[in-house]
Amino acid sequence: MADLFRVGLLGHGTVGAAFATLLEDRADAVEAITGLRPELSGVLTRSRGDFEDIVERSDLIVEVMGGLDPARDYVLRAMAAGRHVVTANKQLLSTHGEELWAAAREHDVQLRFEAAVAGVVPVIRVLQESLAGAHVDRLHGIVNGTTNFILTQMAETGASYADALAEAQRLGYAEADPSDDVNGRDAAAKMAILARLAFNTPVHIDQVRYEGIEHLTADDMAYARDLGLGLKLIGTAERIDGGLSVRVHPAFLYGAHPLASVSGPFNAVTIESEAITEVTLSGPGAGGPQTASAVLGDVISAMIPPASTPPATDSLEIVTDVESGFYLHLEVADRPGVLAQIAQLLGLQGASVKSVVQKGLGENARLVMVVHPLLESRFFAAVDLIAGLDFIRAKPRAIRVIDEQFT
Ligand SMILES: NC(=O)c1ccc[n+]([C@@H]2O[C@H](COP(=O)([O-])OP(=O)(O)OC[C@H]3O[C@@H](n4cnc5c(N)ncnc54)[C@H](OP(=O)(O)O)[C@@H]3O)[C@@H](O)[C@H]2O)c1
Repeated sequence: MADLFRVGLLGHGTVGAAFATLLEDRADAVEAITGLRPELSGVLTRSRGDFEDIVERSDLIVEVMGGLDPARDYVLRAMAAGRHVVTANKQLLSTHGEELWAAAREHDVQLRFEAAVAGVVPVIRVLQESLAGAHVDRLHGIVNGTTNFILTQMAETGASYADALAEAQRLGYAEADPSDDVNGRDAAAKMAILARLAFNTPVHIDQVRYEGIEHLTADDMAYARDLGLGLKLIGTAERIDGGLSVRVHPAFLYGAHPLASVSGPFNAVTIESEAITEVTLSGPGAGGPQTASAVLGDVISAMIPPASTPPATDSLEIVTDVESGFYLHLEVADRPGVLAQIAQLLGLQGASVKSVVQKGLGENARLVMVVHPLLESRFFAAVDLIAGLDFIRAKPRAIRVIDEQFT
């Protein structure tokens, strides 16, 4: 009879319940891999279980409660008691990561968190292990399945944002309160964690600029198709002038970009480095059984050899103004000289137009253009001036364009 490996479970919701089932189903396989038989030693919810008692009877704690409080306290106390911890909690790591990783090192225990970013896609392991020797220049990620599902629906069916969100809720891809998904904050937390690992620099969620998808229209999708563009909520972390920029916003991609074809609730992360060119990982970004599978992978890893998140070795300055290409949608009165005036205002800020589509006539005329990359501050200064022109009939809409292809 193999020795037991006792797993204490904090949280028994979507992920916790799926994990408890999976642990039992896969116990033989885990025993074959590790030589130890995993067993659930206790479960904590709001209505059952005692934290101290569970820690006492466990070799490892799985935290799938979510939130900051009391999760932070429980994770710290479990590690102080010498227990490994596996968590799926991106809010916690993007807010208190440095404190928690330091505690793991201090107490010589493992703190694993593969499920906290992109669900079952093994991007944490790849950054911590496979690409540990690579000098990463940039990451792009579709790290929120809810918003990717909504944008895919809008693009494929012409649905409005509100209808696509309702469909996502009906199918279980969006929660009743989808705020943190659709406003970009969930993706920002995940990008903070990825940036921390890829660039060895502490990144707090408050340092990640984010925009959501609530203001996007079916119209943007239709125009973008004519320009050969697809719309995604993209997280970016990249080195800029010796600093680091981490941000989340909707962005158009040309069809050849590796993230352009990632559709529905899938997640994907593209890692760029000179030596490796580009690596893209993709797969289901959420869901109880899927996330539970990533959690169990971490438990098995913790049962074998040690791994840790070393102290941050860099302290790159966080950059806030970056270069972007833009899609600009303008509702204009159709008069001679309109395009020339707009081009002049863009030109004064150093923006040059890459392509233009004009649709409609008279009071219904629309100009949609793609502008070559320039500093965002300069682009928005031009847009402010354009918005004040007397032939502009509605607030201009600007969305970033990521214009890269890999060969
Ligand atoms: N759902 C996904 O697809 C997914 C994917 C990736 C990562 N995650 C992450 O996984 C974690 C759990 O998500 P979930 O969807 O499984 O959440 P959930 O369904 O809301 O379940 C949360 C569980 O934690 C328990 N809990 C919450 N606060 C507690 C407290 N103060 N004391 C004791 N127990 C408490 C709840 O107890 P009660 O049952 O008593 O309320 C419930 O059992 C979160 O960090 C989330 O971000 C989720």
